[in-house]
Amino acid sequence: MKKEYVYKGFERSWHWMQAGLIIFLGVTGFEIHGSIRFFGYDLAVKYHNFAALSFLVLIAFAIFWHFTTGEWRQYMPTWKNLRAQADYYVFGIFRGAPHPTRKTVLSKLNPLQKLVYAGLKILIIPVMVISGLLYMFYRYPQRYEVVSLNLSGLEAVAVLHTLGAFLLVSFFFAHLYLITLGSTVTSNLKAMITGYEELTEEGEKKFTANVNEHVISE
Ligand code: HEM
Repeated sequence: MKKEYVYKGFERSWHWMQAGLIIFLGVTGFEIHGSIRFFGYDLAVKYHNFAALSFLVLIAFAIFWHFTTGEWRQYMPTWKNLRAQADYYVFGIFRGAPHPTRKTVLSKLNPLQKLVYAGLKILIIPVMVISGLLYMFYRYPQRYEVVSLNLSGLEAVAVLHTLGAFLLVSFFFAHLYLITLGSTVTSNLKAMITGYEELTEEGEKKFTANVNEHVISE
């Protein structure tokens, strides 16, 4: 085992700010929806709008960081070991089978994480942002009449936004469970706080060999 610097400063701050904002948007959003009562409706709307704008600023910084550092490549989905990873979570883990993939600095996400996180980044979050902005900027001036979009009312937008919110809540609980499945129960959590994680050298070597093989064959 070797201690490696896996998550950089920006990545960790972005992760925790995003987590906080999504939780806060979820709480205020479901209060607006009428499912819970916490701040009161008027304050919930105000807070939701403010947190949503903060989320947009954070997303702009995150996009810039992912593209300037090349970290976006971490999220490129792959079929390789996808089935093995899913089988591990459903069966292997309960039989004490070894992890089918190794985490390395150059490949931090397993195939299932790549797929789910890419889905969040290119589908769920954009759906939330676009439906949220439509909600924000079309509802008040037109009073439920979205004339320019040829829609009567915001029903479709509201359904889409609420559906996305339910998916994010499900993701949140699945994420809480999955982060406990690292080499120890808290190793993933500690890594996202300190940036450091104990990784197997074997995994690192294997991955570097694969990358070299790929580069040479290109
Ligand atoms: C940039 C992102 C977002 C924007 C711009 C946005 C904007 C809005 C707006 C304007 C409303 C309507 C408020 C009103 O009725 O006056 C709303 C409602 C809501 N939002 Fe968001 N939101 C965003 C992200 C999120 C996220 C991440 C969640 C959940 C985790 C969420 C959950 C909800 C829910 C559940 C409602 C109530 C929907 C309904 O009952 O029709 N929102 N949002």
